Amino acid sequence: MNLIFIGPPGAGKGTQAETIVRACGIAQVSTGDIIRAAIRSQTALGIEFKKYADAGVLVPDDLVNRLVEARLVQPDCAAGFLLDGFPRTIPQADWLQQSLAKSGLRLEHVLVLDVADSAILERITGRRSDPITGHIYHLRFDPPPPHIVDRLVHRPDDTEAVLSKRLREYHDKTAPLVDYYERLGLVRRIDAVGSLHDVSRRILTVLGVPPSVPA
Ligand code: AP5
Repeated sequence: MNLIFIGPPGAGKGTQAETIVRACGIAQVSTGDIIRAAIRSQTALGIEFKKYADAGVLVPDDLVNRLVEARLVQPDCAAGFLLDGFPRTIPQADWLQQSLAKSGLRLEHVLVLDVADSAILERITGRRSDPITGHIYHLRFDPPPPHIVDRLVHRPDDTEAVLSKRLREYHDKTAPLVDYYERLGLVRRIDAVGSLHDVSRRILTVLGVPPSVPA
């Protein structure tokens, strides 16, 4: 099963991806995670990425397409993948269509996570990530166990000022992808407001994954 998550910053793409890839036995491909790993490693590309990510603007399409191209040939993607944060622009979506067609692959569903902008600031400012497990917490909505709080990371782009730029990028460049994939008959809209468990259940229902699988 090959899937795409589309949603604004803080919609819950990374959080829900953890559950969905486990339930479906597919790989998570998060361009945000790949970009942050390159930034941490301080590679030449990572230094370049940092300028964009810290400013809340998108990295140029050709650089991101190359990251995805390298990631999709990894063995764990053979059983299927969930693209989390890609594509983010029409040129990225065009590139993906061509790349999948060349490999004889197709997309099954494009899951659009719907959350109003007004709900996002609290999600973003309260987010903390565990650098050891990769798990995403929220100080209020999904509190971490007290003994790991000191090691949790607050992303540098998770500020109110940068968020407004990220939201602008989303509405200008990424939201048009919903119409793009509507025309291909692939869009499944998910109400992404509610408990983490309820949102997972809604997604698994759309995917036809049996309810016995823990969400
Ligand atoms: P990226 O990492 O992809 O950031 P994003 O799309 O802005 O998404 P987020 O990671 O902020 O949000 P999310 O939807 O995953 O939310 P989460 O599950 O964590 O990209 C970062 C940067 O990298 C970009 O700005 C750009 O520079 C670059 N980049 C990446 N991909 C690119 C591409 N394709 N092209 C160009 N540039 C690219 O949840 C957020 C918080 O809310 C968490 O604390 C969580 O616990 C909480 N939460 C989740 N669900 C709920 C719920 N139902 N109720 C309450 N709280 C909830």
